[in-house]
Order: sequence, then structure tokens, then C-alpha cells
Amino acid sequence: MIFHWRNHKEVAKWSAGEITMDDHWEWFLKGEKSFRWVFYLDNSPYGFIKFEPIDSIELLNTYRWSFYLNPFETNKPFGLGTLMLQLAMTKLRTILPDRFHILGECHEDNIPSLKIHHRLGFKEIEPDREFRRFLKWL
Ligand SMILES: CC(C)(COP(=O)(O)OP(=O)(O)OC[C@H]1O[C@@H](n2cnc3c(N)ncnc32)[C@H](O)[C@@H]1OP(=O)(O)O)[C@@H](O)C(=O)NCCC(=O)NCCS
Repeated sequence: MIFHWRNHKEVAKWSAGEITMDDHWEWFLKGEKSFRWVFYLDNSPYGFIKFEPIDSIELLNTYRWSFYLNPFETNKPFGLGTLMLQLAMTKLRTILPDRFHILGECHEDNIPSLKIHHRLGFKEIEPDREFRRFLKWL
């Protein structure tokens, strides 16, 4: 299911294009320290979110997130992306013992994602780049 969502053109255009099933397995198997959740609404899968720990001297205690809603679902309520991300942040905060940063990276043309990062109180750390970067301390 996630493979098909990931390769839908509305999702793939914001990532590195389409992937093969081999790429998908490699991605799936290497991320054992990541949190990957499917977001359900009324028993139907509506979205996917991943938090991946990043190793960097500049960004300690940081998880990079990536997310998408089910691109095949045409009848999505407004605000669903925001709701999914709020719930996911709350859940991660209750799971992890220490506070942490979330890093969001999105293309400058991805208006819904840019709006969401601003709405959720992320601070932009590197504006004026093709890929905009946002941080939030939780
Ligand atoms: C990003 C994503 C999860 C947002 O989900 P969503 O349910 O549309 O999000 P919300 O409705 O909570 O908020 C999106 C905002 O963008 C706006 N928006 C949506 N499409 C838009 C468009 N084409 N142009 C301008 N604004 C747009 C919405 O109106 C909303 O703003 P508002 O609340 O001020 O009206 C969803 O669009 C998605 O799955 N996109 C494909 C994958 C992706 O881009 N992932 C993120 C990579 S960084």
C-alpha cells in the first residue's frame, strides 16, 4: 500500500520521483530506528508519516519527518494533513523520554506543505533555497 502511495504522481513529484519495489524494500529494511505510522480514519488508511533520526553534529536530538496522505482517496476532509501531523507529533512526544527537534524539508513550490509547517509553528532555518527547511522543538 505504502509503495503504491509513494509512487503516485502527486506524491512522487515532491520526492525523488518514482521508486522500484527493490528501492522500497531497501528503504523499509534500513529504517529500524525510524517511526513509521499509518494514519487511520474510520478504519480506513488515510495517510503515512515517518520520523527518521538524523545523525548530525549541528542538529542533535532531531527527527526528520516525511508524510503524505493517501493520494488515491479523493474525498479527504479539509485539514486532514494538519490533523495527522498534530496527532503524530503528540504521539512521538509521549513515546520518547527526552525532548527533540523535528526537521521538515519541503520544496518551495509545495504550498500545502509550506502552509502546514508555518501553521504548526515551525521556524524556518534556511529560507531562499529550493528546498526549504523548518525546525520545531518538542
Ligand atoms: C502535504 C499534505 C499532507 C497536506 O495535506 P492537506 O490535508 O491538504 O493539508 P491541510 O488541509 O491541513 O492544509 C493544507 C493547506 O494548503 C492549502 N492548499 C492545498 N492545496 C493547495 C494548492 N494547490 N494551492 C494553494 N494552497 C493549497 C489548503 O487550503 C490548506 O490551507 P488553509 O488551511 O489555509 O486553507 C498533502 O497535500 C499531501 O499528501 N501532499 C503530497 C505529499 C507531500 O507533499 N508531502 C509533504 C512533502 S514535504
